[in-house]
Amino acid sequence: MNKTFYITTPIYYPSGKFHIGSAYTTCLCDSVTRYKQLQGYDTRFLTGTDEHGQKIEEAAKANNKSPQDHVDYIAGLAKDLWNQLAIRNDDFIRTTEKRHEAVVEDIFEKLLANDDIYLGEYTGNYCVSCESYFTPTQLVDGDKCPDCGLTTKLLKEETYFLRLSKYADKLLDFIDKNPDFIVPETRKNEVVSFVKSGLQDLSVSRTAFSWGVKVRSNPKHVVYVWIDALSNYITALGYDSADDSLYQKYWVNGDEVIHVVGKDILRFHAIYWPIMLMALGVPIKFRLFAHGWYLMKDGKMSKSKGNVIYPEQLVSRYGLDAFRYYIVRDIPYGNDGVFTPEDYIKRINTDLVNDYGNLVSRTISMVHKYFGGHVENKKHEHPYIEFETDLVNVANETINNYKSLMDEFKLSEALRELSVLVKRTNKLIDDTFPWDLAKDPALKDVLESVMFHLLEAIRLITILYLPFLLNTCAKAFDYQGVEENFRDFYALEFGLKKTYDVLKNPPHLFPRLDEEKEVEEIRKLMLMKKEDKPEIKPILPEITIDDFGKVDIRAGKIIEARNHKDATKLLVLKIDTGDKVRNIVSGIAEYYQPENLVGKTVAVIANLKPVKLRGELSEGMILAGENHKKELVVVFLDNSLNPGSKIS
Ligand code: MSP
Repeated sequence: MNKTFYITTPIYYPSGKFHIGSAYTTCLCDSVTRYKQLQGYDTRFLTGTDEHGQKIEEAAKANNKSPQDHVDYIAGLAKDLWNQLAIRNDDFIRTTEKRHEAVVEDIFEKLLANDDIYLGEYTGNYCVSCESYFTPTQLVDGDKCPDCGLTTKLLKEETYFLRLSKYADKLLDFIDKNPDFIVPETRKNEVVSFVKSGLQDLSVSRTAFSWGVKVRSNPKHVVYVWIDALSNYITALGYDSADDSLYQKYWVNGDEVIHVVGKDILRFHAIYWPIMLMALGVPIKFRLFAHGWYLMKDGKMSKSKGNVIYPEQLVSRYGLDAFRYYIVRDIPYGNDGVFTPEDYIKRINTDLVNDYGNLVSRTISMVHKYFGGHVENKKHEHPYIEFETDLVNVANETINNYKSLMDEFKLSEALRELSVLVKRTNKLIDDTFPWDLAKDPALKDVLESVMFHLLEAIRLITILYLPFLLNTCAKAFDYQGVEENFRDFYALEFGLKKTYDVLKNPPHLFPRLDEEKEVEEIRKLMLMKKEDKPEIKPILPEITIDDFGKVDIRAGKIIEARNHKDATKLLVLKIDTGDKVRNIVSGIAEYYQPENLVGKTVAVIANLKPVKLRGELSEGMILAGENHKKELVVVFLDNSLNPGSKIS
């Protein structure tokens, strides 16, 4: 039976659109999963959204939505984004789902029954944004949150507490006995010293708001969002439900369980979560990998600073593979990385266009030029053999290093190793001068051997790129005519494939990017404020053609336009709609000068019930849309449409 591998991302807060930071964790987990699958593991990959809590309740209010509508909308955006990034998660858990909420209620009651949770009272400064209380010594500048800098509120509330203190020694013992429980090591050390400095019991319920899982035995309390959220890793597997087969398979009897988390949420995962599991009597099967952050040159990504970059923007301009490659390549293991347009373009141009893409193109074109597209492995002694042997050795070393780095979640480092092999393969061309060998018919076999070595090295490189370059690898294999059985990890052996028939003149794998121009393009994308980005409003429920037929839209010619005498936002228009000249009031005064509208043909809803707007009669409505700057743009029609023409 295959070994199991269960990997999770944190569940994301649905507070807004996801930037490249959230995409980083998810792409990293997806690449690790693909790698494990190639290694023959039976994998399960979970992601989802963390939908309860005051912050979400407030975000919904700010958008004039109910919390449920708000989270439904953002969870939809998240799923769309993960589809666009070709994330192959097996499940998507939402904490507002019944399958999750019911189990969280149970978990809370179990902990209560065991006296691991007790009722008490809390007074302290509370940060709504971080959903946490802080002690006076933790606060900065008097009453500001040490994590996010926002002003905290002094609250006193009845609350349930989880007995963290009771488990501190047990936790330290567990960490000690499982040296790989938290990686990297530096993060583990942070956790250990935090626990050693003394754990306070944790407030695990709230009464100040209601958007959460209610405590079953005392419903004026809702369960603290982190207790609710952390449980997702087992509720999604069916823990404590009628069918817990996934839980048994991937957790209880599973071989590897990895929670991938950002450094900011390590404490919750390394302290609260194992203690919850100890209290529940659930085995601690997981390990934690804490990664760093994508920062911008001027610090954290922030919508208000206008320095955010969204994955969709980069994918639509540079393609999925380039984006996914960059995002895991540019953050070294466990550290932070800085996103800059220059690095983004350079990384793609250097690694993918120049080194890998070019190697494939050059090799294929030489194989055609010198051998009509067909080469065979002709083992024999020749003067360049040492270069070839060296390449084979470097390839073997790369395969080993790559695997051990990938096993430790060092994806960026594994890709760096791979780049070395790509460069070394390119070097075989520089070392052997194939164009000179081609001039001497006596050296034909030598040339063929060089070509064969290039092709085999490219095949191995392409296999190792499989977890990262999702579309490109299949293309490269097709270009080289690599059969299915030579395309996976079991075929990672130099010389396994004996003959090649390559395609003629296939297109380049990656188009070269004009550095200066593209850096400018990305800068423009970054400067767009969030509100500058077109937001696609949800499509309304379906109607029939008969419903549409009730709306009478006509072409109308504007023959007069003036500002409304009292309302600065309104224009008063006289529009000829064929049947008569109508008085129409329109809210476009901020965007159009009246004199520029005269003579234009517009779309008029002609059978709309007349109304008075600020004292002026309006006998219809002209059509307009909103652009990305939230400005109204009138739908102008071709002037050859006569007034009164029916629009359908
Ligand atoms: N909902 C909690 C997690 C609960 S898990 C039981 C949460 N959500 S979050 O949306 O704020 O963050 C989700 C993850 O995204 C975290 O791991 C966080 O570190 C990560 N990132 C957020 N911004 C990031 C960057 N700029 N760069 C890399 N990762 C970042 O916390």
